Amino acid sequence: TADGATPGGPDGVVVPQGSAASVADRPEEDRLSPTSTPHINPQGAPIAETILLPGDPLRAKFIAETFLEDAVQFNSVRNMFGYTGTYQGRELSVMGTGMGIPSIALYSWELINVFGCTKLVRIGSCGGLTEGLALNDLVLAQAASTDSNYLAQFDLPGTWAPTGSFRLLDHVYRAAESRGITAHAGNVVSSDTFYHAQDDTTERWAKMGVLAVEMETVGLYANAAAAGVEALAMFTVSDNLATHAQMTPEQRQTGFAQMIELAATVTEL
Ligand code: HPA
Repeated sequence: TADGATPGGPDGVVVPQGSAASVADRPEEDRLSPTSTPHINPQGAPIAETILLPGDPLRAKFIAETFLEDAVQFNSVRNMFGYTGTYQGRELSVMGTGMGIPSIALYSWELINVFGCTKLVRIGSCGGLTEGLALNDLVLAQAASTDSNYLAQFDLPGTWAPTGSFRLLDHVYRAAESRGITAHAGNVVSSDTFYHAQDDTTERWAKMGVLAVEMETVGLYANAAAAGVEALAMFTVSDNLATHAQMTPEQRQTGFAQMIELAATVTEL
């Protein structure tokens, strides 16, 4: 458009189109956005193989504006903003997923199976289930348990335990360690319910050593495993259900910035 807004971007809320040197200049046949889906319409804008996935599309926009260079917008369908640019010279995309397993599952399915993403990193917040998790600590999901029925469709002859990519997890864990950031790796539970009908729901998961509750990871991990690509989910602890501690909105922002930088280290792989 005349003011340099990116294709598909709603007026006034787009990042500058820029030159997107390394992504927009790729030969047509190397681009990973050959088509559109019901939920993602890149209109020819590229999507990188590595993508960060915050729940909130406005966080995707913030990340594109703050951390990416030469970002172009590749999606605005349903305001689920997605952007591609470079981070420290390497291609990186970022897109919102919405909340809940059905939402992250449909977006991640399309990103993996239609647009060719091979490294998907969810960045979000979680509710800590054990006293050992302080506010702002980082949780890396080794595996995701769930109360959802999402896994039933895979029709396995038992109970499947979707896991994250050890390679991505190990890389981010070491990056956190080297920056003096406390990281906990373990099981999380991806729940369909934020408000539970039974009082002891989260305590029962905590008793089994599950570190934290959130609402998306099992869908991402299952889709990634089914397609043979790598995924990782990482969270800052925004509240603790055992200690009743809660972050202030300002604390949420700080923890989030630190997590984005850690997540973006997977572009080194
Ligand atoms: N429940 C589910 N998801 C969450 C929570 C929670 O308490 N905190 C942050 N994400």
